[in-house]
Amino acid sequence: MTAPAPPGRAPAGGRGRTGVVHRTGGLPVPGVRGLPLLGSVNDFRSDILAAMRAGFEAHGDLVGYRLGPVTVYGVSSPELAGEALTDAARFGKLGADNPLRLVLGTGLLTSSDHDSWMRNRRMMQPLYTRAKIAEMYATMRSSTDGWLDHLAREYRPGDQLDLHKELMRVTLDIVSRCMFSTNVLDDLDTIGPHAVDIAINYAFQRLQNPFSPPVSWPTPGNRRFRRVMASIDDLMYRLIAERRAAGPGDADLLDALLTCRDADTGEAMTDRELRDEIITTFAAGHETTAITLTWTFYLLSQHPRVLRRLQEEVDGVLAGRTPTLADLPRLPYTLRVFEEAMRLYPSAPIVPRLANHDTTLGGHHLPAGARVLVNLVNIQRHPDHWPDPERFDPDRFEPAARKGWHRYAYLPFGAGPHLCIGKHFALMEAQLLLAALVARYELRHLPAHRVVQHATITLRPRYGMEMTMHPRRRTTVAR
Ligand code: HEM
Repeated sequence: MTAPAPPGRAPAGGRGRTGVVHRTGGLPVPGVRGLPLLGSVNDFRSDILAAMRAGFEAHGDLVGYRLGPVTVYGVSSPELAGEALTDAARFGKLGADNPLRLVLGTGLLTSSDHDSWMRNRRMMQPLYTRAKIAEMYATMRSSTDGWLDHLAREYRPGDQLDLHKELMRVTLDIVSRCMFSTNVLDDLDTIGPHAVDIAINYAFQRLQNPFSPPVSWPTPGNRRFRRVMASIDDLMYRLIAERRAAGPGDADLLDALLTCRDADTGEAMTDRELRDEIITTFAAGHETTAITLTWTFYLLSQHPRVLRRLQEEVDGVLAGRTPTLADLPRLPYTLRVFEEAMRLYPSAPIVPRLANHDTTLGGHHLPAGARVLVNLVNIQRHPDHWPDPERFDPDRFEPAARKGWHRYAYLPFGAGPHLCIGKHFALMEAQLLLAALVARYELRHLPAHRVVQHATITLRPRYGMEMTMHPRRRTTVAR
């Protein structure tokens, strides 16, 4: 049983011409030369993962790619990933030119100022411990039940649905209720269901293409981006104003952000700082989980034996109901299925870093300011670390099988100080949603629908995920 082919075709038309791009100090980094002037810009734009897969297959674990005037370095081994992600003194976050800042400002994900990042991370960390997330379970579960009711109302047996779109809906509802005690779905529908997509896509295009026109130019794309951002900002500032007026009391992330004080200055966060952390939580905290679940259901539709085993586990424990918190430890195979899906389709496929000064990586020289792209897809399908790497096999995640792994061979949540703060939240939510959906429905992929991976900041299915939905039992389920 194999997963769909990895994004691995060689770039076409002679663009894969190769050469060494860095020779100064340390070992030279092998590189893809690409086209004159442009380098690999077009290949990165059309399919960054395919371009980086071809570079990895041709040159190995560390490869330089020219993107016009800049060179970026692709990292495809656990050893090099560990070095780049854990040593924050040598490799930091992208700085002021990170286009994601146009959307997220300088929240946890995009801040490059170590001190303010650390202050905010310390303050937010207690909200994300396993114990605290467990307290949110009832909210997650009620949101899941609301979503299942919505599915039952909207779709008849055998109806077609875009699973990706529906999962985005429930994960957004879960993050907004758990973290901000509010439901923003109606507001986002008013702004336009694709608002966040448009904003993030715009930022990503800029990340890949150093020749993008300045944001201030009145191009149609720039104008659309500014319109969308103005609406999103209105919503964020409204959330803040309403909570300030109501006062604390919800014991959620928004309360924590509003009441925290800087240990040195005693100052509270400004509205701008609050807005940045809130939009970061929305952006980082819903699409990632929705996408991995989408790929999970796609994989299940292609692997009937895994699906049967999962259904047996879920039916045995739940008999059609939505899992309680106490049920989760009794659903280990469910969790493994999700973990294995995240290995093949890490929803944040590329983790970028910036060399803070002239340095080396795996003994190779990197100049100050070099952009390093840690490629989780290549690492998690690395043939030296994963036997039969394209095979979808949740048993890889059995406790005994995990023992021999390299520490950084599996890192869907990143590694080092910036390890995903929402990891426990995401795993609990995913196990709940996966079990709840499998308990009630069998989802079959529509054969005519084209499944194409599209890596932006996240690894989306380019044309969504069209499936048909078949109720597994006709009982009224107990909750
Ligand atoms: C399957 C789901 C998820 C995946 C695969 C994922 C993946 C990641 C990765 C790879 C990073 C590291 C980025 C870096 O090092 O530059 C990260 C950071 C982050 N994630 Fe997640 N994430 C998921 C869910 C969530 C959820 C549910 C939340 C919040 C509710 C969240 C919030 C964040 C934040 C705020 C950061 C920045 C942390 C920091 O730099 O201090 N993520 N995530």
